[in-house]
Amino acid sequence: MKWNHNAFFPLEVAYPLGVDLGSEISASIIGRIAGHAADHGVLAQVIRNAGNGDHLEIGSLFGGSAILAALVKRHYNLAGKLVCIDPMTGYYGKPDPESGIMLDETIFWENMEAFGVQDRVELIVGKSEETEVTGKFVSAFLDGDHSEAGVLRDWDLAKGLVSKYILLDNYDAHFEGVQDAFRVISQEKGWRCVLVYGISAVFERSS
Ligand SMILES: C[S@@+](CC[C@H](N)C(=O)[O-])C[C@H]1O[C@@H](n2cnc3c(N)ncnc32)[C@H](O)[C@@H]1O
Repeated sequence: MKWNHNAFFPLEVAYPLGVDLGSEISASIIGRIAGHAADHGVLAQVIRNAGNGDHLEIGSLFGGSAILAALVKRHYNLAGKLVCIDPMTGYYGKPDPESGIMLDETIFWENMEAFGVQDRVELIVGKSEETEVTGKFVSAFLDGDHSEAGVLRDWDLAKGLVSKYILLDNYDAHFEGVQDAFRVISQEKGWRCVLVYGISAVFERSS
């Protein structure tokens, strides 16, 4: 199969790795990894392209995407930790609608340990807007509050900390807020959208 080799952000070797890791994680995680195979592939390519350095994640749920990011870093021998922010109070305060499980912090850490990535991961329990995040990151994945205001707030937080890529999840018809935020973010100086694929949108720092 040929990927988008002429694009600004080619989906190359890390993409199929991400797809495979997504299904491995899905098979044994407590709860679930969110997103679709294509989005797991894109996340893996973002982590690979960002290279050495820390990764920020807003909205972690059971930890599936954080595990995937950590396993990609390990696969490519990339340095860096994962900083995850999530209130750890279920799926937006309720039991997860797909697995029926009420997420808590214990489950998150059980999942990290099951995949042997606990030493790479830091969890900040709370909502991103109530959290102070410091540090420098090469990449970020915004997958928490999907309202327009929520995405824009997380974008503002991330853009001051991230040197290479910011990935938005849920850029699809079900999440108008993400689409509206995307239009605003697309006007942002110093960043350009390099890929929309599956329900993922990748922004790259251009200056
Ligand atoms: C779509 S799920 C994340 C899925 C996860 N990234 C994955 O791929 O498996 C969104 C998570 O963000 C959490 N969340 C909601 N509002 C948030 C906020 N303001 N800050 C951080 N996390 C938030 C939700 O409770 C939920 O756990």
